[in-house]
Amino acid sequence: MFITFEGIDGSGKSTHVALVAEWLQQQGLSVRVFREPGATPLSEAIRSILLDGRHRISPVAELFLFCAARRQLVEEALRPALARGEVVICDRYADSTIAYQGYGRMLDLAMVERVIGYAIEEVVPDVTFILDLDVNTALSRRGDRASVSADRMEDAPVAFFERVRAGYRAIAERHPERVVLLDATQPVEVLQHHIRGILTARLRVSSSAVVR
Ligand code: TYD
Repeated sequence: MFITFEGIDGSGKSTHVALVAEWLQQQGLSVRVFREPGATPLSEAIRSILLDGRHRISPVAELFLFCAARRQLVEEALRPALARGEVVICDRYADSTIAYQGYGRMLDLAMVERVIGYAIEEVVPDVTFILDLDVNTALSRRGDRASVSADRMEDAPVAFFERVRAGYRAIAERHPERVVLLDATQPVEVLQHHIRGILTARLRVSSSAVVR
């Protein structure tokens, strides 16, 4: 099973990735967690280019770099893990590119989707959780993380993140069978309860794995 978590910076998705991974491991499942961009040596190298504030990267070049990092991850680690029957959890995946490069940078959505298609082929998540949060709350949560300086992406203006958020909501509307839109202002325990309920139901259907 392939699970992804999405949301604007500061929405709390990494917390939920860690908690879900731990919970699934406790059920005896073999779980792999990847973060995007990253998770393979090449993808991590591309990540440092993408987040380096000294680079001026054109929006289309940015799209290709995110998709290059993703392609490497898919081939080198993600597809093999799924083929072995492992549960894969990604902290961001293709929906980030639609939301950030498509809606945020305002690139042509059909072009963005075509490039993503080349990068991921058939490797589409079974379920995607989008942590939806208003931009000001997300930015102030991010600001609370002491000593974390903004990277190249986080330097974008508020209007950019408003578009990204709207993009995520549009993705949720377009793919109701795959995407679960969560209100990220709810407490972590409430969200986890909801997420685990959904995953329990999906795991029962998709495999013989017993999740209590
Ligand atoms: P990261 O530090 O991992 O952010 P977060 O902790 O919020 O996940 O940095 C990844 C940044 O790259 C983040 O600002 C979102 C952005 N991004 C894109 O613009 N497009 C993409 O396809 C992906 C995967 C990430």
